Amino acid sequence: MAEVNNRNRNTYTAITMMVFYMFFLISVAHAVDNPNIIFILTDDQDVTMGGQIPMAKTKKLVGDQGIIFNNMFTTSPLCCPSRSSIFTGRYVHNHNALNNSISGNCSSPAWQKTQETNAFPTYLKSHGYETFFAGKYLNQYGKKAAGGVEHVPPGWDNWYGLVGNSVYYNYSLSVNGKREKHGDQYPQDYLTSVIHKRARQFLDGRHKWSNSPFFMMLSTPACHSPFTPAPQHNSSFSNMTAPRNGSYNVKAKNKHWLIEQAIVPMPDDSVKNSDEIFRNRWRTLLSVDDMVEDILDTLDSNGILDNTYIFFSSDNGYHLGQFGLPYDKRQLYDFDIRVPLMVRGPGIKNGTFSDEAVLNIDLAPTFLSLMGGFMPGADGVSFKDILHPQDNGTKPVRGTFLVEHTGEYSDTIKGCPQYTGQNMNNCDQHCVCEDSMNNTFACIVQISQTRNMKYCEFIDSQNSVEIYDLKADPAELTNLYQTTDPKTIALFEKQLQFLSTCEGDRCHSVPT
Ligand SMILES: *[C@@H]1O[C@H](CO)[C@@H](O)[C@H](O)[C@H]1NC(C)=O
Ligand SMILES: *[C@@H]1O[C@H](CO)[C@@H](O)[C@H](O)[C@H]1NC(C)=O
Ligand SMILES: *[C@@H]1O[C@H](CO)[C@@H](O)[C@H](O)[C@H]1NC(C)=O
Ligand SMILES: *[C@@H]1O[C@H](CO)[C@@H](O)[C@H](O)[C@H]1NC(C)=O
Ligand SMILES: *[C@@H]1O[C@H](CO)[C@@H](O)[C@H](O)[C@H]1NC(C)=O
Ligand SMILES: *[C@@H]1O[C@H](CO)[C@@H](O)[C@H](O)[C@H]1NC(C)=O
Ligand SMILES: *[C@@H]1O[C@H](CO)[C@@H](O)[C@H](O)[C@H]1NC(C)=O
Ligand SMILES: *[C@@H]1O[C@H](CO)[C@@H](O)[C@H](O)[C@H]1NC(C)=O
Ligand SMILES: *[C@@H]1O[C@H](CO)[C@@H](O)[C@H](O)[C@H]1NC(C)=O
Repeated sequence: MAEVNNRNRNTYTAITMMVFYMFFLISVAHAVDNPNIIFILTDDQDVTMGGQIPMAKTKKLVGDQGIIFNNMFTTSPLCCPSRSSIFTGRYVHNHNALNNSISGNCSSPAWQKTQETNAFPTYLKSHGYETFFAGKYLNQYGKKAAGGVEHVPPGWDNWYGLVGNSVYYNYSLSVNGKREKHGDQYPQDYLTSVIHKRARQFLDGRHKWSNSPFFMMLSTPACHSPFTPAPQHNSSFSNMTAPRNGSYNVKAKNKHWLIEQAIVPMPDDSVKNSDEIFRNRWRTLLSVDDMVEDILDTLDSNGILDNTYIFFSSDNGYHLGQFGLPYDKRQLYDFDIRVPLMVRGPGIKNGTFSDEAVLNIDLAPTFLSLMGGFMPGADGVSFKDILHPQDNGTKPVRGTFLVEHTGEYSDTIKGCPQYTGQNMNNCDQHCVCEDSMNNTFACIVQISQTRNMKYCEFIDSQNSVEIYDLKADPAELTNLYQTTDPKTIALFEKQLQFLSTCEGDRCHSVPT
């Protein structure tokens, strides 16, 4: 009897071990195939004014533990067009969200019907992902004309979408289609804290050994206006000012009309105001930095940090005093189009850097390829092989890319009656306008180890053209249009024409 029992027990043990081993193999295979992805997107965070400096913990925990991209760009220096590109993987001329208004297709019914239904979140479910979104989506999201808070973009299982543009207090969220109102108490209403708290709840609520991977997007209002810091960060960086380098307070010469109307040198109160905005932007980012640290701690204690990619980026850059423009984006210069990108995760070697040019339209294809899939209809390209060079894939070598902006305008400008009916916009300090109908341009940027050129054409009454050699002139002070030979200009023109109308794979290279 004892012998039989023993044998049974041994058999039982062996079977149990086999089952466990099989589970182990399955879960290891699963871990490799189905990594979690967390995408943190900030609003208006620059690179060229040191916009990443205040986020020291994020650099240490994400950048230094993975890869930092030195040449990440947005293909449009304005929130809604850029975000629409992030979600669709498409250039503006293909997704048609031209500006931040509903009439310009920002979260418009037409956009929802033609673009949102094919945006990257709609493909996550078919790869078995549980999905979570919290924060700012598109500037018109949740408003009546955009379908109200009831409209939850397809693909998201857990949805905490901000109604309207970035704010820190006094807003509504769509919580899975139901309105949740917030006042102005810290921390329960501070939007970055709310995003943080909801993300924690989601992670803590998931079973440790859950088989389904997740995709989480945390889209913070920081460091967009109205630049409201959390109370505990209210007096940080009090000795800092906007950097005085590059094109700061430099009078623009031979540039497009809009930029030449800036007041240079800037009046004292404009300088003071830009400096205060600079400090408050950094302060708002401290709350994002705290969130990133806590999310990574949570992943670690839940045992899933090693199977999770963290992407960190921003929708567009920013300027504070460059060429005398007090505060905004919407310009073709690097300060408005360069954005941060760092990634950590499985198979990414720590402490690495990449000089490859990567774009906001590449994010969706990259997410999908990390899941073993691909992003249909994208103009961008996956940069997975830059993350995993050990796989010996072909790195995307993109010599040339496109930047597009359609200038915004309105009939009346509050406080600046001289601009009534002038098609101007965003006229703030001393009525210096940051946008206008004729600030409509398309550029090509060529970037490689040896070359970094920018060629831009405006739709304005002068058919303005600007050309910069960023290797020789990183601050873009000297427009080379007058001194560039016609043959070179003809080639630029041809390439710009090509990319301005390109679709899909055709956007990856240009005629030479
Ligand atoms: C300007 O200053 C900022 C902040 O210190 C720095 O990050 C940036 O690299 C500087 N740019 C140039 C062109 O020196
Ligand atoms: C808005 O998007 C729709 C669908 O792509 C397009 O037909 C329409 O022309 C767009 N509107 C503008 C102003 O571009
Ligand atoms: C929030 O709204 C209330 C009520 O309108 C107002 O008194 C308060 O000043 C607002 N707070 C902020 C931070 O805007
Ligand atoms: C933050 O500090 C400024 C002065 O630097 C003050 O005006 C403001 O009321 C403070 N805000 C909070 C929320 O403490
Ligand atoms: C501001 O103060 C900090 C901490 O005391 C110091 O490290 C930094 O160099 C100072 N910066 C400036 C611009 O004075
Ligand atoms: C990268 O990881 C290795 C092994 O854990 C460690 O020794 C090294 O210091 C790390 N490098 C950086 C830049 O963090
Ligand atoms: C990549 O290339 C190296 C050097 O040619 C080779 O040793 C390695 O096995 C290759 N790795 C893969 C995953 O193919
Ligand atoms: C956005 O684009 C639409 C379509 O061209 C235009 O009607 C609207 O005035 C634009 N909005 C702004 C603020 O420029
Ligand atoms: C741009 O628009 C403004 C305001 O309508 C006008 O005064 C200016 O001449 C225009 N400039 C160009 C180059 O089109």
